[in-house]
Amino acid sequence: MKKTHALAGLVLSTALFGAGLTNAFAADETLRSLADKNGIYIGAILNSQWFGGGLPGNYEQIHKSQFNIVVAENEMKFDATEPQEGRFNYNNGDKMVRYAQQNGMRVRGHALAWHSQVPGWVNNYKNDKQKLLKVLKNHIQNVVGHWKGKVAEWDVVNEAISNNEPQWRTGSVWYQGIGPEFIDSAFVWAHAVDPDAELCYNDYNLEQGVNPKAKAGFLLEQVKRWVKNGIPIHCVGSQTHVEDTTTDKHFIGSPDSLRSLAKELAKLNVKLKITELDIGFKSGINVSKSDLERQGQTFRQYLDIILEEPNADTYLIWGVSDKWSWLGGLNRQKGLIYDDNLKPKPAFDSILVRLQTYEPPKDSAKADSTVKDSTTKDSTALDPGQSIKQFNAPNSLSLHVAGRTLFVTGLASKTTAKVDLLDLQGRPVYSTNCINGTVDLSNIAEGLYVVRVQNGSTNLTKRISIK
Ligand code: XIL
Repeated sequence: MKKTHALAGLVLSTALFGAGLTNAFAADETLRSLADKNGIYIGAILNSQWFGGGLPGNYEQIHKSQFNIVVAENEMKFDATEPQEGRFNYNNGDKMVRYAQQNGMRVRGHALAWHSQVPGWVNNYKNDKQKLLKVLKNHIQNVVGHWKGKVAEWDVVNEAISNNEPQWRTGSVWYQGIGPEFIDSAFVWAHAVDPDAELCYNDYNLEQGVNPKAKAGFLLEQVKRWVKNGIPIHCVGSQTHVEDTTTDKHFIGSPDSLRSLAKELAKLNVKLKITELDIGFKSGINVSKSDLERQGQTFRQYLDIILEEPNADTYLIWGVSDKWSWLGGLNRQKGLIYDDNLKPKPAFDSILVRLQTYEPPKDSAKADSTVKDSTTKDSTALDPGQSIKQFNAPNSLSLHVAGRTLFVTGLASKTTAKVDLLDLQGRPVYSTNCINGTVDLSNIAEGLYVVRVQNGSTNLTKRISIK
């Protein structure tokens, strides 16, 4: 191919991709379908506005087509489910469970014992240990019992560790009245009601190192103790509300730190889940295109943990569109993967491409995980299988590179294939049409790329190296 053609191709690809990378991909390929193939759960909350019918139709359309796990932003919390003592309200939660069942999604329950969003009447019993034990037990028995077999996993305890020096969060009504054993009891009660539900401890700032001075280090010691004492804990949820690295000088969290925690938990047969991911920028700053691309890379790095660590299976984002995000209250902005107009952002593209191109190393299927299967029963939703499935193109297309030529075989006769070259972050590099089964790559710089070939309704995505 002559240089002029390559340049024309580049212009064409830029024009094509300008409207969003997703346009270049088959319409039936979604985060959800790719997550299913990779044996992981990918999800987003249903925002509180959804429950009142206050969101545009394409919100729900996007939600059910892109995600295979769902959690309620506020509607299964204590104040929502037991607003008055002994009077339970399951209406909104039931609405979400129905939605999940209709759309084959797994349901996450959030959250049973938390210091926040506790109704006022609980505080009437402040420091009355016996009464608070009864209140918490009754709440857990009723709520978990109501959704038994329908909610596959629960955040049994949320945010019980202090944010400053690692120690228990002493200001919590549960901690003050009962002591730290409220945690052990909560797990035992939840397990007794629904032995098939996966039970998690959930918290934030767990991506800041696994050492005794960090929250994750303190937590790890507790998990060791719980496991040793037979407390039924099956997972740690890392909320992962993080800030984009360059806008916060104090930012010390990293995907690598969270991966270390996953590896430590694996030794204890405990899973790691990312449960509330958002990667915000400071409010008020101007967020550029390259900022959004870097944000996409961070989303991808956190996804890598879920794809690669055998005891990690869930990637849940705390919102769909930046328009309905809780981040404003945290003095952050633009932390999600769809913009204010529900258009996919570069972060969406990074996640999509990563899911498309991930190839599990041989012999490292999630089935080989040290984590036992006993905690993963889920009668309500998809069964994404116990092992990561190899990404298999559903057709006979194949491609390989020899020298500077890309060879595509298996094209339907007399047809043209569209060939897109992307970098590993999913950014378009080059796009062309391939008629005779070869594509000249002489003008492409050395490096690793992702090639996507589309031929009629079939397609193939593969990583290549150009030398
Ligand atoms: C947030 C919701 O997004 C807000 O709508 C609500 O006002 C406060 O709670 N950690 C958690 C979530 O565990 O429940 C929180 O959700 C976000 C931080």
